[in-house]
Amino acid sequence: MVRDVKAAKTTLDPSIRITVCDTAEGAQALVADRIAATLVSGGVTGHGAVLGLATGRTPRGVYAELVRRYERRELSFGEAWAFNLDEYWPLPPEHPASFTAAMRRDLVDRVDLDPEHWWIPDGGCPEDRLAEHAREFEARVVATGGLDLQLLGIGRNGHVAFNEPGSPADGRTRKVELQAETLEDAAAAFGGVEWVPRSAITMGLGTIARARRLLLVALGSHKAGIVGRALAGSATPDVPASLLRGHPGLEVILDRAAAAELPAQEGALPA
Ligand code: GLP
Repeated sequence: MVRDVKAAKTTLDPSIRITVCDTAEGAQALVADRIAATLVSGGVTGHGAVLGLATGRTPRGVYAELVRRYERRELSFGEAWAFNLDEYWPLPPEHPASFTAAMRRDLVDRVDLDPEHWWIPDGGCPEDRLAEHAREFEARVVATGGLDLQLLGIGRNGHVAFNEPGSPADGRTRKVELQAETLEDAAAAFGGVEWVPRSAITMGLGTIARARRLLLVALGSHKAGIVGRALAGSATPDVPASLLRGHPGLEVILDRAAAAELPAQEGALPA
């Protein structure tokens, strides 16, 4: 029995589609290809693709590449709808360290996405309206026909969006408390850990798992350990990203550094 447990911890599920790129730039270009293809497809409803967007350092190069392609008129967000995963709370959306401000700087204000077709949780929402705000957010995702493609990063502790270790697999959009590592990782953006909001509003793992496709992206050697635990360790709420492994539309795109602690897998294709 002990041998079985060990095997489970060191074997990659061959059904997970993993692509390992030589460089971070290569991985970001591949992610941009996936988003571009989703935009062109018009989404499953035919009324425009519904994108789930993410923040953090990882997707920034992806957004830069999408902006370049937009400027070369190779793609358009004109028909698209977009939802962002999460936002710090309480935090005014116009605060420069907010995810709202980052998304505007990196993508939303630089392409032809209709601002009326873009939703991100409101860090300025009063406390007594939070539950209603979260319900409205969920309802909007459903009303657009659901997410065609959700882009995801992974936090140092395995969090996805702001679903910290211990989060339920079927969780919905809600207010959550941030854990110590997450606060530390955000400290630089806020000029010190004491300025980082202690809470956030996040899509739940259940909301995320309803997306038709999930694109999990990790870059750099500092992600290698958690990527190994998320993809090859036990599926456990201690590593929230591991709970998405059974999703039939999951694709993982890594650079070589982030893939360093994965066991060999026949399906891992060089890009
Ligand atoms: C934040 C976001 C996550 C993101 C994570 C990793 O916590 N809420 O959605 O995946 O940061 O960010 P980075 O890409 O900067 O490592």
